[in-house]
Amino acid sequence: MSDFPVRRPRRLRRTATLRDLVREHDVSPGDLIQPLFVVHGQRVEREIPSLPGVFHLSVDDALDREADRLVELGIPAVILFGLPATKDETGSENFAPDGIVPRALRRLRDRAPGLLRITDVCCCEYTSHGHCGILRGEAVDNDRTLEVLGRVGVTHAGAGADVVAPSGMMDGMVGAIRGALDAAGHSEVAILSYAVKYASAFYGPFREAAESAPAFGDRLGYQMNPPNVREALREASLDEAEGADMLMVKPALAYLDVIRAVRERSMLPLFTYNVSGEYAMVKAAAARGWLDERRVVLESLVAMRRAGADGIITYHAKDAARWLRDAHPPI
Ligand code: PBG
Repeated sequence: MSDFPVRRPRRLRRTATLRDLVREHDVSPGDLIQPLFVVHGQRVEREIPSLPGVFHLSVDDALDREADRLVELGIPAVILFGLPATKDETGSENFAPDGIVPRALRRLRDRAPGLLRITDVCCCEYTSHGHCGILRGEAVDNDRTLEVLGRVGVTHAGAGADVVAPSGMMDGMVGAIRGALDAAGHSEVAILSYAVKYASAFYGPFREAAESAPAFGDRLGYQMNPPNVREALREASLDEAEGADMLMVKPALAYLDVIRAVRERSMLPLFTYNVSGEYAMVKAAAARGWLDERRVVLESLVAMRRAGADGIITYHAKDAARWLRDAHPPI
């Protein structure tokens, strides 16, 4: 058989029905996880300047309304980030049973019991120095940090977290949290490990939103170096051996090859985090009329799925769910 003119791939692109029939990947609202920033205070719904459309929410009607919107749109899960009332060296509010995240967990459990509650487990929002662990001198003390992360995991589980997601890139964090959870009777709580997290400039807007930029230095001593991919496989397999139930690659768009590489090596469910800088770039260009926001977002999300992600943490979740509901085929 000869190639052209006998073989013509365009035949299968001729009509929308044909294209839909042969499509290989898709994204649906059920694949999306909404990040939420919860704060102290009453009736706070404060838009984050570098993340238009994303709000600081107080744990009252403001959080209830957001939960209702997510349920209505068919988004199955949230990941919670808390802004504490005060910060100190060890980040005490991080493991306080009446801290901001436990309060939000209880509120969400009452308001929207079917919405899956994931919590970010890290120190950087809570510590006065903004690093992801406990310091000794100017360096993060890995093993002391593990004790704190175990306490945080147990605190969140006690307040109703379904899944805890350690994001600090400490060695041994998954094993330490698993051990602490099991010892406290929370063997049913799952761990989604930010196993492969790069030291990325794409976190810029998040650090403004979470007030978590390091007061000195950077995160290069614990987060991964962007040029590396073999190291990602090593991180993933170590976390799997420590008992991770699910893995994450972060950020998403500049690391689609890493998602694919981890997907091919692990049988665990795999997530990716479409991070704040990726969101902010799209929003900024769309606001100027330089990009078609809807198409760019849906194209990006399906690319993450094609790369091998089962689910995506994204600030676009609500918009994407709306677009996916209102138009078929969406892309
Ligand atoms: C906390 C954490 C960060 C993000 C998620 N969890 C920031 C960081 O590592 O500095 C970034 C998320 C985003 O940019 O959207 N360690």
